[in-house]
Amino acid sequence: MSTPSATPSFTILGTGSHAPSQVVTNDDLATSIETSDEWIHSRTGIRARHLSGPEDTTTRLAVNAARAALLDANLAANQIDLLIVATCTPDLPMPSTASLVQNELGLSPRAACFDLNAACTGFVYALDTAWAMLSSGRYHHALVIGAEKMSTVLDWTDRTTCVLFGDGAGAIILGPAPADHPASGILAARLGTIPSTSDLLRIPGGGSSPLTPEARRYITMKGREVFKFAVRGMEEVARELLAEQGLATENIALVVPHQANLRIIHAISEYLEVPRERFFINVERYGNTSAASIPIALDEARRAGRVQRGDLVLLVAFGAGLTYGGALVRW
Ligand code: ACO
Repeated sequence: MSTPSATPSFTILGTGSHAPSQVVTNDDLATSIETSDEWIHSRTGIRARHLSGPEDTTTRLAVNAARAALLDANLAANQIDLLIVATCTPDLPMPSTASLVQNELGLSPRAACFDLNAACTGFVYALDTAWAMLSSGRYHHALVIGAEKMSTVLDWTDRTTCVLFGDGAGAIILGPAPADHPASGILAARLGTIPSTSDLLRIPGGGSSPLTPEARRYITMKGREVFKFAVRGMEEVARELLAEQGLATENIALVVPHQANLRIIHAISEYLEVPRERFFINVERYGNTSAASIPIALDEARRAGRVQRGDLVLLVAFGAGLTYGGALVRW
């Protein structure tokens, strides 16, 4: 939990997103695996996802999203002095994707650049980390990116997982609140990890653990358990954030949740008693893009006019770990 009080307000100055051009529908998937649009859509809300070709690396997706965010914030690349890329599908074990992005964007050599892995909660973890670093007074403008090429960690013969995910990237620029709108800013953020749940969602091979026929570099998931923890974790973090700020669910103008599954989003809407109309949902068109899902959704929500000046926006996520996190932002 972090709520710096005497520090200046830091806010989201711009957003951007990018998805590869190839759109694969549920019907397309049903031509190669035993599944159907009806099964996938009724259980997840997903109709299609964007998938990358070989040229669309995680870095490339991230760079495109970052360029759009810089343009939106009206900032030049050399004004960024902190870059965090949230990803669990980096191009390489090293250097970091952030180093590759820095190079392509032409950021200052003084910019601190690193990757952060909290799986699907990665963007919220990166947002809180960037906020804390800016609040230290040592950094001025942060570029925070969630970028994933999930298609590289899916077993395309495993219908229980491959239908759920997609590729893409979203980015934000964090910086001092503008003089004409000093009330805007990150109000609070809270992160956590649920003990003894690391086996529920994982890529068992491909790190320093050896690859074996059993431990391959593909996602495995115990879907039903993940579902329960996801709903509970996101509801709790949202309630804690609101209570900490003396706010109520009625004050929330828009919830931008992690886009993993429509039924999870509907369950949170019910438990929090925030009507579905106040959730931004695009899982139907993207599937689960992991760390990219919230920044893509936030960018689409803004560009669709769903976020207005003064609005209170709740970001809330869960992912492998199992990690969870949330942030309250005054627009
Ligand atoms: N098409 C057709 N049938 C399928 C498919 C498919 N794509 N996948 C599984 N089935 C079958 C199963 O084999 C099973 O058949 P059986 O009864 O003959 O054994 C049947 O459908 C039911 O399978 P379940 O896994 O029990 O289905 P469930 O209703 O639990 O739905 C789902 C699965 C959608 C994954 C659900 O558990 C869920 O949404 N969990 C949340 C997980 C989640 O959101 N993960 C995201 C990752 S978290 C993060 O963001 C990183």
